[in-house]
Amino acid sequence: MSDTALLKHLIGGEWIGGEPGIESLNPSDTNDIVARAPADDGTAMAAAVAAAAAAFPAWAGATPEARSDVLDKAGALILERRVELGRLLAREEGKTVPEGIGEVARAGRLFKFFAGEALRRTGVNVDSTRPGVEVSTYREPLGVFGLISPWNFPIAIPAWKSAPALAFGNTVVLKPASLTPATAHAMAAILVEAGIPKGVFNLVFGGSAAGNALVKDPRVAGISFTGSQSVGAGVAKLAVERQARVQLEMGGKNPLVVLDDAEFDRTVQCALDGAFFASGQRCTASSRIIVTEGIYDRFVKALTEKVAALRVGDALDANTQIGPVASQAQLETVMGYIDIAAKEGGRLTAGGERLKRAKPGYYLAPALFADTAPDMRINCEEVFGPVASLVRVKDYEEALAVANLGEFGLSAGICTTSLKHAHHFTRHVRAGMAMVNLPTAGVDYHVPFGGTRKSSYGPREQGQAAIEFYTQIKIAYRWV
Ligand code: UN1
Repeated sequence: MSDTALLKHLIGGEWIGGEPGIESLNPSDTNDIVARAPADDGTAMAAAVAAAAAAFPAWAGATPEARSDVLDKAGALILERRVELGRLLAREEGKTVPEGIGEVARAGRLFKFFAGEALRRTGVNVDSTRPGVEVSTYREPLGVFGLISPWNFPIAIPAWKSAPALAFGNTVVLKPASLTPATAHAMAAILVEAGIPKGVFNLVFGGSAAGNALVKDPRVAGISFTGSQSVGAGVAKLAVERQARVQLEMGGKNPLVVLDDAEFDRTVQCALDGAFFASGQRCTASSRIIVTEGIYDRFVKALTEKVAALRVGDALDANTQIGPVASQAQLETVMGYIDIAAKEGGRLTAGGERLKRAKPGYYLAPALFADTAPDMRINCEEVFGPVASLVRVKDYEEALAVANLGEFGLSAGICTTSLKHAHHFTRHVRAGMAMVNLPTAGVDYHVPFGGTRKSSYGPREQGQAAIEFYTQIKIAYRWV
């Protein structure tokens, strides 16, 4: 695989090229340029928003079945090509091929789920307090939605934002992350093949100039953003200033609590998977592992052995369990945190060093720190890489208190055989999602997703909750 794709924006149903300003590298082999794409300065974005605005009335007025058919077809095509697309994703982002195929399948299923939801844009009838008056509600689309997606789920997140926006009758402009343009382009091409009408779905590549143009455009009714906390805060400010809808999914510092009574082997695997799979580059990653003292030493030893045995390598190699980190910048950030954790007094029990492989890439040995304190930076700031830290606590009560520290609140897990503690944790942990005997990462495509506090802002994404963000309610009073 060494062919370099030349990508184009999709605007009003036309593929529009431009001076290539974005280069997507294979993080497993930086000599391999996956794609080149134009980097918009705001001009293409304005044209894409205009196309989406022009296409809105017809798409909003189309029958639910017409919208459903396009989404269903796109989902089927994505599923059909899951192996080819999964390999492209692995090559471009650095997930392993099975992880890439799994993500592509999730994207396909998302389109199929929302093909069904397109038929469920329902309202209610309300008995009026006034004789002869009828009251009913309708769900209406809003117009153009601007979607800004990150590199770590380069097809699933574009799908989980685009599918509900389109299902309920809105039109879309997607600005994908500049690290992973080829995967987003493949999804756009499939939507075209599935028969999406011109202008209903648009794709524009670019960095902050393109993003700002999208967020500020008065013709854009709402913005859905997944990315870092700092960029998200800026997006929300601009959107709220002009009273656009806004939904943000940002960071996490997700705790996994392990109690003495946990099923040992399953729990070690749960921590390994949650913290390190997908190279730890998931906002739901289990990056803080909080363990009660009766099991702590045994757990640290077992997890250390598992982490040290992980096979890090080329994402396209069938033998690889952990691919590289996605980019040079990400590698530097992660290495910076490994340094910080060591200086703060964390005890490195496994990994943490750069690895050399046959091809030049961003390879890093997954790092585990034991004996960290809850207030160390390594336990408060999102690293977004293959790094986890262990905290020793006395009992369940202290574990819960530590889990609830910090500014994030996306996902939280507990491993225990105690029904009492599992139930109490589910109800009292300050997070949007609570997992029992499961990793904090890895969610279903047909249920709501989102966090609390600095992790998320605005209505929940996905599942039947997605309708809240992508529609508004019209209330009709009739005297007849
Ligand atoms: C998952 O854990 O399956 O960017 C999904 C992220 C999240 C998605 C996580 N928005 O990592």
